[in-house]
Amino acid sequence: MKKVIIKSPGTVANLVCGFDILGLALNEPNDIMELTLLDEPRVIIHNKDEFDLPTDPEKNVAGVVLLSIMEKMDNKIGFEVTIEKHIKPGSGIGSSAASAAGAAVAANHMLGNIFSTDEVVQFAMNGEKLASGVKHADNIAPCILGGVTLIRSIHPLDIITIPSPDLFVTVVHPQIEVRTSDARQILKQQVSLKDAIRQWGNIAGLVTGFMKNDLDLIGRSLEDVIIEPVRSILIPGFAEVKKNCKEAGALGGGISGSGPSVFMLSKDEGTAKAVESVMKDVYTRIGIDFNTYVTTINKTGVEIVE
Ligand code: HSE
Repeated sequence: MKKVIIKSPGTVANLVCGFDILGLALNEPNDIMELTLLDEPRVIIHNKDEFDLPTDPEKNVAGVVLLSIMEKMDNKIGFEVTIEKHIKPGSGIGSSAASAAGAAVAANHMLGNIFSTDEVVQFAMNGEKLASGVKHADNIAPCILGGVTLIRSIHPLDIITIPSPDLFVTVVHPQIEVRTSDARQILKQQVSLKDAIRQWGNIAGLVTGFMKNDLDLIGRSLEDVIIEPVRSILIPGFAEVKKNCKEAGALGGGISGSGPSVFMLSKDEGTAKAVESVMKDVYTRIGIDFNTYVTTINKTGVEIVE
């Protein structure tokens, strides 16, 4: 029996100003998935964690991805998958993308890498559609490719990997659940030209800052005048966390994906740890349970473990 074990990383989508178009992969946390190729057309799912996610493949993020690959292979094969989630669903650090991208990369590996990276991203986006109602690739692309990625376009798919400095990332996950679909529904459908111009400046500044290794420019560009003012209302303590983290030396940061996690970029580990302790202080004071991660940018994306 053919079997593969993969490690699929958490991701930070949007990178503050780049709603739906920018994302980066994290070295921690990771989901672990084991995939077996079957010679009959069915998808069997086992969950090896406490999250009680659906095992019906039509209702499971990894399941719909595997079904779409099975269909593409004229239903001549099937898959059995065991998912061990460490990235909590609804955390804002790409839990659904890790399952979807992990399933797509593992299946492609089993099939002898017959699909291109763009095709693997397309398969994986079926999982995001199930999870949030919309095909977006700002978690999927960095999860598969690693590093910082720009999704210039979805139709047609145009993904660009952006070289980035070796930054540290601190993430705090206050233990409240924000569904991506809800966090998308509350967004305004109209943007003023003034705000759009400011946001374009920030996106261009952030990408340039990554490419030129200009940490001050990265910090200045981590500003969102469109999405954050609306979504931050869903995250208790957000303004205080952001202010205190910057005072502790973070370059900047904001909502991770659709929240409730908040991330901050720092130039060194000492600062990233100081930022973590500031985050812990805020949520301890407010009285909300939390998890934190101090990690770096994952440069490889989904990894074949064995
Ligand atoms: N770009 C998506 C959003 C990411 O912000 O809704 C969801 O993780």
